[in-house]
Formats: sequence, structure tokens, C-alpha cells
Amino acid sequence: MVGLNQATSVVISVLCSLSASAYAGATSSAPALPAATVFDNANGVVGGVHRPAKYSPRSRVAVYVMHAESDYMSFSACTQLAERGFTVFCANNAADKTGPMSDIYFEDEMLQVDVGMQYLRNLTGIDKVVLFGHSGGGAMMAAYQNIAENGASACSGDEKIHKCGSALDGMHPADGIILIDANYGLGSMPLLSLNPALTGPHGSTINESLNLFNPANGFVNGSISNYTSEFKKRYQAGVVKRNNDVIEYAKGRLAAIENGTAGMTDDEQFYVNDMAYGVTSNKFFAQDTRYLAHTTHAWPLVHKGGNITIQRVPSVRVPTNFASVANQYINGALKTTIRRFLSTFAIHATEDFDILADGFKGIDFDSNQFSPSSSIKGVTVPLLNMGMTGHWEYLNAEKIHMNAPGNDTAIAFIEGATHLIYTCVACESYPGEFGNTMTTTYDYMASWLGKEGRFIHS
Ligand SMILES: *[C@@H]1O[C@H](CO)[C@@H](O)[C@H](O)[C@H]1NC(C)=O
Ligand SMILES: *[C@@H]1O[C@H](CO)[C@@H](O)[C@H](O)[C@H]1NC(C)=O
Ligand SMILES: *[C@@H]1O[C@H](CO)[C@@H](O)[C@H](O)[C@H]1NC(C)=O
Ligand SMILES: *[C@@H]1O[C@H](CO)[C@@H](O)[C@H](O)[C@H]1NC(C)=O
Ligand SMILES: *[C@@H]1O[C@H](CO)[C@@H](O)[C@H](O)[C@H]1NC(C)=O
Ligand SMILES: *[C@@H]1O[C@H](CO)[C@@H](O)[C@H](O)[C@H]1NC(C)=O
Ligand SMILES: *[C@@H]1O[C@H](CO)[C@@H](O)[C@H](O)[C@H]1NC(C)=O
Repeated sequence: MVGLNQATSVVISVLCSLSASAYAGATSSAPALPAATVFDNANGVVGGVHRPAKYSPRSRVAVYVMHAESDYMSFSACTQLAERGFTVFCANNAADKTGPMSDIYFEDEMLQVDVGMQYLRNLTGIDKVVLFGHSGGGAMMAAYQNIAENGASACSGDEKIHKCGSALDGMHPADGIILIDANYGLGSMPLLSLNPALTGPHGSTINESLNLFNPANGFVNGSISNYTSEFKKRYQAGVVKRNNDVIEYAKGRLAAIENGTAGMTDDEQFYVNDMAYGVTSNKFFAQDTRYLAHTTHAWPLVHKGGNITIQRVPSVRVPTNFASVANQYINGALKTTIRRFLSTFAIHATEDFDILADGFKGIDFDSNQFSPSSSIKGVTVPLLNMGMTGHWEYLNAEKIHMNAPGNDTAIAFIEGATHLIYTCVACESYPGEFGNTMTTTYDYMASWLGKEGRFIHS
């Protein structure tokens, strides 16, 4: 099956946004944000190139920053890595354009990433391109690199709820990939946000025995919840059941669309109450921090100032998400279409679904196209995985790393950084405990990127 609005013509109208002279003598100040340039008129994809102050071996490495559905045109990497000598291309795909709608469509998004890759390969002064995926961008970039390295056979297997078509053959692989707090996937995050106290896609009546926000189940407002083991079992079984019901409903609507008995012949709107999957909607472990609390194995943990210890890595995060959005459409519902849901957000969870202190059981990551721990199994280029210990998404760095087949894979955790890499002040036990995590993170990343023999051969 092909995308809904694939790029048919790609119009490039880019000025290399910054000339070297714009930065002459500007080595210590942050490079200015370049003007956005439209480089894919068909889909409204825009981007801007941050050239570092000086030409050097590092400036010949371009880091390609894009998120799955948020505008990352001014994400920290754009300036932080340019300050450290690298060229950075920050782009925004078409999925960030329609407000409350979850607009991602798997095939379209892959092709939009590819347009940016071709644009970078065409730029002068660049020898290597390294993908940069943060959070949902990690799910997107890992999927892209897997399919670009292996062709559409990497996304058309029987294990997938939605099998891709041959349109994804011939995409252009990068030379390396950096994943920063790559999330559990664009199928997993909705699953991990799905409120089992509601029924079917559109139910709005709360079943109190499954209600995460009921003190009788262990909820504590404003502090660490202590969900009972009975509630946890009911909750997890409820998530699996409602997830199955929602997928069955969507498949039924697709069958009706395809046999001409639905009102529309191409697709139709689809919303699922309390399945919005942004970080403020993730459930259970956000409130009860005993879960997703530490890695399984020992890994490098980077402390302030760059000191590294090798240890089982704990999360330092504090509980959050104390208010229910079950009865809210804009903040609570996943708003998509039937085809977008099945191609992008649907994932299978099995009877043994279990939220653990160090991960999950019972999520069939391979069933969704956007699961980084699954996609990475086909990625062989140099890979750096980093996790931010002030957030629950940090733990997936370990799962991705353990599935990575490449010969040059690295992993590191940044102590006390939030999901957006800022210092988690609320996580500190004394002021200054975690230092400037932005500096710690980008220093580490820059030394990985700049290591002789990896992307730079002088
Ligand atoms: C890159 O260059 C090739 C060959 O000149 C051209 O066909 C293609 O349209 C260019 N693509 C982009 C995105 O600049
Ligand atoms: C509420 O959920 C429980 C499972 O925990 C189930 O046994 C019960 O039938 C549900 N109640 C209603 C009204 O659906
Ligand atoms: C959590 O609840 C269990 C019983 O369900 C109790 O043994 C434990 O002390 C509680 N912990 C906290 C921190 O309240
Ligand atoms: C079309 O598909 C729907 C959903 O599977 C089904 O209920 C219906 O019977 C089908 N109708 C025809 C005419 O095939
Ligand atoms: C880093 O580790 C060294 C050696 O253990 C120690 O002397 C130094 O104080 C540490 N630096 C910081 C900032 O913790
Ligand atoms: C928790 O307390 C906050 C602040 O008072 C409130 O806004 C929120 O609705 C409460 N959560 C629940 C589930 O009652
Ligand atoms: C890793 O190195 C081994 C031994 O040099 C080689 O056979 C293998 O193909 C390499 N794997 C990858 C993914 O590059």
C-alpha cells in the first residue's frame, strides 16, 4: 500500500542558509538559527542548515535532526553540535502541521526523511551524514535507517500489522545514527497511555476498579503512587483487552472502507479516548516510580563534568501525571484516521503484558513499524544510544543497544537529565548535584562523533 500523499515532485529551493563569513570570529557565541528553507514543496517539509564557525574535519560531518511529529527546527542539538564544530541540519516534516491531529502516516514520513537525506547528500562540504533521533524521532530515524539499509523487505514481513509497499525501496542510508532517549515506539507509547478504565475506542465511563487515579487502587496525588499488585494485574489485563478491541474495531472499519460499505472510500477519521501518547499521558510508571526504575545490566553512567562509572543505571526521576484527561478530546484522545492508526500506532500486546522495574514483557515490538528496539536489528552503521536518567524513556536505550548487530555501537546514560536534556532540578537531592546536563550530553556526543576513524579520517 502506498502513502496518502507521497511526494510526487520535490522542489528544492535552498540557499545554503549560512555562509562561513556569517560566523567569522564567532567561535564562542551560539550560531544563529538559520532561516528555514522549503525543500519539499509537495509535503511542506522545511529545514535549515547550521554551519559551524569554522571549516574543519568536523564540519564535513552533518548531523540530521528531525522529530516524528514535533518541530525540531530549534532543538538544542542544532546549536550545541554546531558550536562543537559539526554541520547540523534541523528539519520539520509534514506531521507537525495540523494541531490536535496525530497526522503521522508511516510511508509518507519515511519518504519525507529520505528527501532530507538526498538534500544533505547533495550539499557541498559534507562527507558523512549521521541521523539524530530524539524520543519519537528515534523511532522514526531507526525505522528509516533499517529500511534504507535493507529495502522494503524490512517493513513488509508477516509480523507487521501494516506491511509497507515497494515505494520504500531505494531510500538512502546514513553513515551513522544517534538515538537520544528514543522512546519505546510510536505504537508502544499509545499502548502505554491507553486507559483501560474506558471501553472500546469511544467509551467515556470510568470503571473504578481499573482507574489509575483512584486512591483505593494505590494512587497518591502529588507523590509516588503505590499501586497494589491486584490492581496492577487488573490494569495490565485491561490494557491488553482494550488494545485488542481498538485494533479489531479499526480493522473492521478498514474492511468496510475497502469493500465500499463505509461512507468514505479512502479512509475515515478515527479517535480513541485517553490514548494520546505524549509524555503527559503516559500511565502507571509515570505515577508509580518503582517501575522502569533501573537498567537490567551495568552501563556507562556519565556524571556531571564527564566522570563515568560503570553500573546498573537507576532512574532519578520524580512521579508526575497526576491529573486525568480521560474526558478530554484535545488533550486525551488519540486523533487519527483508520489507515494512519493501523500503519503507525497499532501494536500487539500479549496476555503476559507486564510493566517491570527494568522494562516490559508482552509487547510485540516487531508488530509495529516504529519500534526502535525492533528496527535496530537491521542497522549496521555506527550507533550511539544515550538515555536521560531523569525520565522513563531512558531505559529503552538499553533494549535498543542489546538488539543492535553493528560492530560499532556505544551506549551511555546522562545522570539527572530530563527527557529534553535539561538538568532535572526536581530530581536533585542537593542543588548542583547533576551540573549542566546539556553540556555533559553534547560534550559526550561530540567526542563520539569526532572520534578519529569513525566519521573523520584525517
Ligand atoms: C540531489 O541531486 C540529484 C542529482 O543531481 C537530483 O536528482 C536530486 O533531485 C537532488 N535531490 C535533492 C533532494 O536535492
Ligand atoms: C470493571 O472492570 C472489572 C475488571 O477489573 C470487570 O470485572 C467489571 O465487569 C468491569 N465493570 C463494568 C461495569 O464494566
Ligand atoms: C505500598 O503498599 C504495600 C502494600 O500494598 C505496603 O506494604 C508498602 O509499605 C507500601 N509502600 C509505601 C511506600 O507506601
Ligand atoms: C464489508 O466489510 C464489513 C466489515 O468487515 C462487513 O461487516 C460487511 O459485511 C462487508 N460487506 C460486504 C458487502 O462485503
Ligand atoms: C571525577 O572523578 C575524579 C576521580 O575519581 C575525581 O577526582 C573528581 O573530583 C571527579 N569530578 C567530579 C566533577 O565529580
Ligand atoms: C491531583 O491534584 C491536582 C492539584 O490539586 C488536581 O488538579 C488533580 O486533578 C488531582 N488529580 C486527581 C486524579 O484527582
Ligand atoms: C563485524 O565484523 C565482523 C568481523 O570483522 C564482520 O564479519 C561482520 O560483517 C561485521 N558486521 C557488521 C554488521 O559490520
